[in-house]
This record gives sequence, C-alpha cells and structure tokens, in this order.
Amino acid sequence: MSALFTPFQIRSMELKNRIVVSPMQQYSAQNGIPGAWHLVHLGSRAVGGAGLLITECTAVSAEGLCTLYDTGIWNEVQTEAWKPIVNFVHDQGAKIAVQLWHAGGKGSTTHPKDGMKPLAPAQGGWIAKSASATPINQHLPVEMTIDEIKQTQEDFAYAAKNAVKAGFDAIELHAAHGYLIHQFYSEMINKRTDDYGGSFENRIRFLTEIVQQLRSVIPKEMPLMLRLSAVDYDGGTHGWKLEDSVKLAAILKGMGVDFITASGGGFVQVDQTIVKPNYQLSFATAIKNKTDLPTGAVGMITDAQQADEIIKDRKADLVVIAREHLRDPYFALHAAIELNETADIPWQYERGFN
Ligand SMILES: Cc1cc2nc3c(=O)[nH]c(=O)nc-3n(C[C@H](O)[C@H](O)[C@H](O)COP(=O)(O)O)c2cc1C
Repeated sequence: MSALFTPFQIRSMELKNRIVVSPMQQYSAQNGIPGAWHLVHLGSRAVGGAGLLITECTAVSAEGLCTLYDTGIWNEVQTEAWKPIVNFVHDQGAKIAVQLWHAGGKGSTTHPKDGMKPLAPAQGGWIAKSASATPINQHLPVEMTIDEIKQTQEDFAYAAKNAVKAGFDAIELHAAHGYLIHQFYSEMINKRTDDYGGSFENRIRFLTEIVQQLRSVIPKEMPLMLRLSAVDYDGGTHGWKLEDSVKLAAILKGMGVDFITASGGGFVQVDQTIVKPNYQLSFATAIKNKTDLPTGAVGMITDAQQADEIIKDRKADLVVIAREHLRDPYFALHAAIELNETADIPWQYERGFN
C-alpha cells in the first residue's frame, strides 16, 4: 500500500491523494481573464488524477500583474471566467486552490516570448511598486507609500472574496519567488525605516496583516495555504534564512494559515549545481517538524517512488509537482499504476488503460 494515494484533509478540503499540480504561469490570459487554455491546462491535469491543483499566480489588482498575460481575480468578469474551470476540476473529483499574488517590483514585464524585459509605461506598462526602491533583476521599482500598502492589502482581501464566489476550495497566498510579499520580508529588498521595515517583526507585517484580513473574509472551513521562499539562496549573507522561515511559519500557524509549501529564491540566480531531486525537501521537513504545520515539498520531484517515499517517510504531507506535470499531465494515473494502486481513470478513457 502506497502512502502517496492516501487521502489528506485541510480544514474542510478532502484530497483523494497527496499529489498537487504546482502553480505554473501560462502567460496566456488577456485582461487577467482565464480562458480556453487555462481550462485545458488545469482540466487535463485534473483528468490526470492529481488530488489538488493550484492555479498559476493570479493577480489581486492590475498593478499586481507581472506581464499583461497573467491571470487575475480582481473583478467580476475574471471571477465568472474561473467558475467553469473550477467546476470542471470538481467534476473530476479533484480540488482547486487559487494562488493569490502581487508581482510588486517585478511587475510591468514583457511576455516571455519577448524576453521578459521591463515594459515601459509608454508601451502599455506601469510603474512597478515594491517595499523599497531596490533594483530587482532589470527593474527599479518605486517604494510603496503607507496608503498604497493598505490598498494592496485590501486588494488581497477583495480577491479572496472573489475566490470564494468562484467556488475555489482553498486559497494559496503567494509569498515566495521574489514577488511583493517576499520583497517585504526579505532584507535583500526591504530597506524601509517605518513599521514595515527594519526588524523581523516589521518586515513580516505586510504579510501577517494580509493573512489576518484573508482569514476574516473567507469561510472558517476554507483552507488558507501559503507558498514561502524558505531561503533567499544568497549564500547566507543578509538574506532570508531557514530559521526565519521556521519562526515565521509558527507565527502564521497561530493566525490560521493551514499549510506551507516551502520553495526558495527569487532575487538571485540559483546555483544550478544544487538543483537535484528533492533539493528543497529539507525546508518542508524542517518547517513541518519544528512547527507541526503540514507542508508541501516542491522541486525536482519527478517520479512515483520518489514522491511516495517523501510521504511515507513523513518528510512532507503533500508533493507539489510542476515540470513533470508539463511532461505528463497524467502523472498521478501513471503513478497509481506504478505503485499498484487502483488508478482513478475517467470512464471516458478506461479503454486506453485496459
Ligand atoms: C512554467 C512554469 C511556471 C511557473 N509559475 C509559477 C507560479 O505561477 N507560481 C509559483 O509559485 N511557482 C511557479 N513556478 C514554480 C513551480 O511551481 C515550482 O516551484 C518549480 O518549477 C520547481 O518544481 P519542479 O521541479 O517540479 O518543476 C513555475 C514553474 C514553471 C516551470
């Protein structure tokens, strides 16, 4: 009997297995509205047997976009457009979370096909705002005022209400990968001298206030998940460290965060020699063991045995798989067959698996 195909519950959300489709930006939306591509992308991976799908990072405001092709959930048209996608995923017996996000200082960027370069306001871009005016890659953002901070936090809460209306099972707050929330908690970017900068407590305030607002607007039984950059991969100088993540996770747990996926980086190029199978697993294990919060492991998890061992050895509670799901949308069905489990094959496709 495998561990990978055991159910898992977070608040009222019951997952049929431990396999999660990791959020993956598709750069295929117009005006933040998800369309046919998103239905097929998420839908096929639900058909493919994953227990939970997490949407690509989805902006809480127009200024929160990275490119003009990201999805959003700040208005009614976008909210309505998510509904058929959510319903289709549910019809396959899977659950779906929306990843709420603000790109902050990484915003106003061209499409990947055009090189992801800064997009000038004259070309349809906007002035990207961040915790501080610290350069991030090729961007030089402007520091947010206190009013802008408060407005952005309200945007997160409003987007969360829309997510509830769209029928999502859970919310994942994107607090990783060098985007706005991470720009606040990492000293690499945050140079503020007010209540939102300086000490650890001040740098996490932007995030903790959002968490408090989200918990107050979403139903009590709805899970609030969070993706963290557990480390800054800056060579251990002044960046965010695993011990900071453990401390933060304990605080977030007390505020009603139910689950953390431990990712990493976002400001510096990660040394590719460390990118090996399970390279970020130890972050998920440390947070889980030290805070008792359920965690997700992400990063180079590509096969069924590997995924099963992570769950069996209690190193994480869920396996969050990105690129392998691009190669194989039916990863979960294939994993079930490999692990001698009964694969949950949609009846329409049964003849292909006989
Ligand atoms: C095409 C692509 C798009 C991604 N977009 C997102 C995203 O929207 N949000 C996010 O948190 N991570 C994003 N990621 C990171 C993945 O979710 C994951 O953390 C990373 O790829 C490592 O996992 P893997 O080795 O299984 O691919 C993206 C990765 C890829 C390959």
